[in-house]
Amino acid sequence: MTKQVLHLKAPENWINDPNGFIYYKGKYHLFYQHFPYAPVWGTMHWGHAVSDDLVHWEHLGIALFPSKEYDKNGVFSGSALEKDGKLYLYYSAVRYLETDPENIHHAFREQYETSQAMLISADGYHFDNWHAKKQIIPVIRDDVMADATHTRDPKVWKEGEEYFMILGSTYREETGRALLYRSSDAIHWEYAGQHRNPKYGRILECPDLFRVGEQHVFIGSPMYILEDGLEYRCQAVCALAEFRPEDAALSLPDTYQFVDYGLDLYAPQTNLDQEGRRVMIAWMRMPRTAETEEGKQWNGMMCLPRVVEVEEGHICFRVHPEVEKWFSREIPVIAVSVGDRPYRLKTTLKEGEKLDIGGYRIRISEDRVETDRSQVYEGIKGHRVTASTPKLGGEYRLDIFVEPNLIEIFINDGAYVLSHVVYDLKPYISGRIEQALTGRS
Ligand code: FRU
Repeated sequence: MTKQVLHLKAPENWINDPNGFIYYKGKYHLFYQHFPYAPVWGTMHWGHAVSDDLVHWEHLGIALFPSKEYDKNGVFSGSALEKDGKLYLYYSAVRYLETDPENIHHAFREQYETSQAMLISADGYHFDNWHAKKQIIPVIRDDVMADATHTRDPKVWKEGEEYFMILGSTYREETGRALLYRSSDAIHWEYAGQHRNPKYGRILECPDLFRVGEQHVFIGSPMYILEDGLEYRCQAVCALAEFRPEDAALSLPDTYQFVDYGLDLYAPQTNLDQEGRRVMIAWMRMPRTAETEEGKQWNGMMCLPRVVEVEEGHICFRVHPEVEKWFSREIPVIAVSVGDRPYRLKTTLKEGEKLDIGGYRIRISEDRVETDRSQVYEGIKGHRVTASTPKLGGEYRLDIFVEPNLIEIFINDGAYVLSHVVYDLKPYISGRIEQALTGRS
């Protein structure tokens, strides 16, 4: 089976969100939304990959696929939990009310309904799609409570002696909302409350709620958020949240940070790593399909694993120590050979200074890091090409990870991260680089 390093990519054809990310019985398991037949979105399956270190990944094929009336048109996003040594997988089960006659992998006019389901695996390698699935929350048809179509992406966790589930939803496709459920056995779920907030888009997808020290952090992917009068289609956000486990009361602030200040990162999911660090991984959306050396078409990849920390009320996403380790084992290269191998560049810039990585331009302007990918995004219509961070207070330490289709810039130790999908990077770097490292696969 396909092996990959640093970034998990579609083994072939299409992937989107990370699902069921967990350290379980000595291995990291990462599942992902997968359409195995073509490099486009379609009937969703869960693909499966494992890793010892979050750096080297091995694809294991398809774990979950549609097999029941309630999930016959898609096994949508969800999460994983370990209980009694078993792996519990939770997902959204999709059933089309009407199928597009020209493409059976799409619902006709968004006519579909969603329920929540689970599958229990005894070992994390065998998934009995015929006997081990169970529908746990039927379609909710009362729109005061939820939305029959857009209620999805169960994230499940244990807090105290109880299990909680957060779901993304909408109020009449106008206001994002999150639903909370609770359970004592992680199988039978009871509705516990909800939080609506118009600042969180029209539909909220892939919510995640977890503790970092004494605080709760919320991460979510709102669709159609309005920012500075600009309509961002979908952009992952994070904020410190108020969550009271006793009555499952959740409240989200009206202002948030972006998980990433680029334009492509979406649907993040977190879990604890082997050492108890909170690690985030997310899908990088690709507007154009790429090709492997063997000529296989692939679309969709994951960002580097990032450690979530809170520093003075600010949420940071740091380089994971295993990624550090992988690059530190390497001999620093003076003249970086800018080929197909991933590499890392470190530098500190000043106001007005520029860097050009194979056509991807970075500069410091008005106290922000600004990027322009127009030269490495040619022919792609309808997508923004420039992005910037908020003001940085005069400090511009950049730690940049480059690979043929992705550039990730960690700024000031991950106080902000800005990442972009790119195509056809040219083989040059210009500007002041203090350290360049390349990795061994
Ligand atoms: C987010 C999302 C999820 C959904 C999945 C379907 O990218 O739309 O809300 O479960 O993708 O593939």
